[in-house]
Amino acid sequence: MSTTAIPGQQVDLAVRFQKVRQRTLALCDPLSAEDMMVQSCPEASPAKWHVAHTAWFFESFILREFLPGYRLFNQDFPWLFNSYYQGFSAFPEKRLRASFSRPGLEEILNYRAHVDEAIEKLLGQSADAEALRRIELGLHHEEQHQELLLTDTLNAFFSNPLRPAYLERDPDSAATNSIDARAGSRPLSFIEFPGGLHFAGHDGQEFCFDNELSRHKIWLEPYALGDRLVTCEEFAAFMADGGYQRAELWLSAGWDTVKANGWRAPLYWTDREGDWRVFTLRGEMPLEQVADAPVSHVSYYEADAYARWAGCRLPTEFEWEAAVEGAPIEGNLLDSGALRPIPAQAEGGPQFFGDCWQWTASAYLAYPGFRPLEGALGEYNGKFMCGQMVLRGGSCATPAQHIRASYRNFFQPETRWQFSGIRLAR
Ligand SMILES: [Fe+2]
Repeated sequence: MSTTAIPGQQVDLAVRFQKVRQRTLALCDPLSAEDMMVQSCPEASPAKWHVAHTAWFFESFILREFLPGYRLFNQDFPWLFNSYYQGFSAFPEKRLRASFSRPGLEEILNYRAHVDEAIEKLLGQSADAEALRRIELGLHHEEQHQELLLTDTLNAFFSNPLRPAYLERDPDSAATNSIDARAGSRPLSFIEFPGGLHFAGHDGQEFCFDNELSRHKIWLEPYALGDRLVTCEEFAAFMADGGYQRAELWLSAGWDTVKANGWRAPLYWTDREGDWRVFTLRGEMPLEQVADAPVSHVSYYEADAYARWAGCRLPTEFEWEAAVEGAPIEGNLLDSGALRPIPAQAEGGPQFFGDCWQWTASAYLAYPGFRPLEGALGEYNGKFMCGQMVLRGGSCATPAQHIRASYRNFFQPETRWQFSGIRLAR
């Protein structure tokens, strides 16, 4: 009997697999089984569903195809936890996910353990190159859901009349003190860029999503970007100047949305007898306490109206990428543990990564030469290339491993439940 050495690439992937899978469960530590059932808006999902669906991805796209003899954990789970892959199976309506009281949480956790064991078995053998590529994709998929788990929990707790904190702030902790010590954000200034010929998109050497390909030439006129994100205090000045009442500041669809929804502040801002309070994963905080932190949970429409009010505009995704390419992936990402946007440091960088996703003025479209993945996985990104805007940079809920200069997030322009903020351009 011969033994085959497992390639180092597989060993590294097995280590990363364990870390990513454990982090999802660690993010659920502050949640009760009841918390994990809440679906407080149609676009959000219960934490329990995220925990199950991320296991479903590995079972459906890797184990069933690449692990001979793999036994399904439950015959119904392949369609029950399918999110939107028409080419894979039928699936339940998204807005019904809070009705999944069965299977219970314990069964879901057993499902995860079953899938983990099978993936570890696969990684312990000499595995097919396509299986390894899909495991890597599954890990990036799971990191996306880690962010969604947090943003969906924030919405769930905001909808709860008690407004519970996901994690309490510890006023004595060094981390909390260092965040608050940054209050007193520096004045906004602009960084000038000469424009010219640049490249956008990923070079394809390491992992990227299909929507980051292919790398292609772009031409930019000279432009300037704000050297930090727009703060809560600055956004409050827009509100005080009648920002939500002045039609001339808004795109037509934005103005319709403001009126239809009665918007007068970002999502999670509550007017308590004239004092604004801002709800965060660390609980509700007075506006004064987060005044210098980046404003978050604004729609594309609000970002665009604010920029117009400020005599500026939003950057295109290409201006953003050209400015950021080669910059270190540093910032207030999930790994910092802050779980909320924090003020730019006096001597710090331009907040290109972390804190809040930055709305761009670019519609989410295919790059030249875009080819979706084969089969049902081709539905991952490509079928959403209509009616959405691109966001860049990651947020305080994005794992640092997950973000890069070419990363394209995308949401409908009215979306507010993600950590979405504003960088000005001119
Ligand atoms: Fe998913």
